[in-house]
Parts: sequence; C-alpha cells; structure tokens
Amino acid sequence: MSIDAARFRQIIGHFATGVTVITTAHDGWLHGMTANAITSVSLDPPLVLVCVNVGADTHAAIEASGRFAINVLPAEAESLARRFADHGRLDKFQGVGWRAEISGAPVLDRALAWVDCAVVGAYPGGDHTVFVGRVLGADGRSGEPLLFYRGGYGRVTR
Ligand SMILES: Cc1cc2nc3c(=O)[nH]c(=O)nc-3n(C[C@H](O)[C@H](O)[C@H](O)COP(=O)(O)O)c2cc1C
Repeated sequence: MSIDAARFRQIIGHFATGVTVITTAHDGWLHGMTANAITSVSLDPPLVLVCVNVGADTHAAIEASGRFAINVLPAEAESLARRFADHGRLDKFQGVGWRAEISGAPVLDRALAWVDCAVVGAYPGGDHTVFVGRVLGADGRSGEPLLFYRGGYGRVTR
C-alpha cells in the first residue's frame, strides 16, 4: 500500500501535539521554525529529538551551529507559531523577546517551557533529518499549551 504526502499528512494529523519553535544562532544570525515533530528520547542521559526538513533554512543553521533550543508555545502564541512556520521569512525575530541560556540558541521569553541542546547525532529520515540533542538546560512555567490537531490550532479544554 502506498500513500501520497497529502493523505499521509492528513492521517498523521489525527495525532494531537503541542507546538514548539526550534531555534538556533549561527554566525550572528538567529533562525527558527515551528515544529511539532519533537520528542524526548532518553532520561539518562537526557536526550531529545527533532525532525527537520532538509529544505528548511533552520536545517542548515542547526547543522552548522551544532545547537538548538526547543521552545514550547503557550495557548496564546498562535501568531508566533504562524510567523515561525513562514519559510525563509527574514523578520521572524522582530519584536520577539528572547535570551541566550546555555548553548546560545534563542530561548523565547513567551515560551511555556524550553529545552536547550547540543547536537549529538544527526540521522537521515527521508526528506527530514532527525537531530538528537543532549539537554544542556531546561525550564518551564505554569500555563496552558498551544495544540495542533488535524491541521488547526487549539487549546486544552478539561
Ligand atoms: C504546526 C506546525 C508544525 C510543524 N512541524 C514541523 C516539523 O516538525 N519539522 C519540520 O521540518 N517542519 C515543520 N513545520 C513546517 C516549518 O515550520 C516550515 O517549513 C518553516 O517554514 C521552516 O522555516 P525555515 O525554512 O525558515 O527555517 C511545521 C509547521 C507547522 C505549522
């Protein structure tokens, strides 16, 4: 059985996720993209992974810098998710508060949680690369997360 990309995207969209912005800094430039293909991998040592399209500008920047930060977005940050999903947009960070924590990858002030990483592995996965990151530092605060489900944004209702 084969399945085309559009149908696959539609089917896999039934799996509800949070929404993150993956960031890095390289050569004095900031890069970032919206991503939901992230997961924790290991507790000891603490490892995470993120799957990044090889065509994304952020892909080359992570490869070159060897570091990235995962910024988990709060429910009220849908506009940030849309902005950082805009391929090649040059003003993604304009007016966006951020700081460097450990690796130097931008940690967004509005993030509900952040995980700062050094790349310890990069594995080909079709049109994506699976970057495995060793966790250098992480923190979070209380609040509701932004969700992504079947192609649309949402929030938790209890
Ligand atoms: C909710 C959502 C989740 C996404 N998740 C991923 C992902 O996990 N990996 C990926 O490569 N692209 C993902 N994208 C697409 C990227 O955000 C998009 O290609 C972005 O434009 C890349 O930016 P850049 O090329 O400027 O680096 C996602 C987009 C949205 C809206």
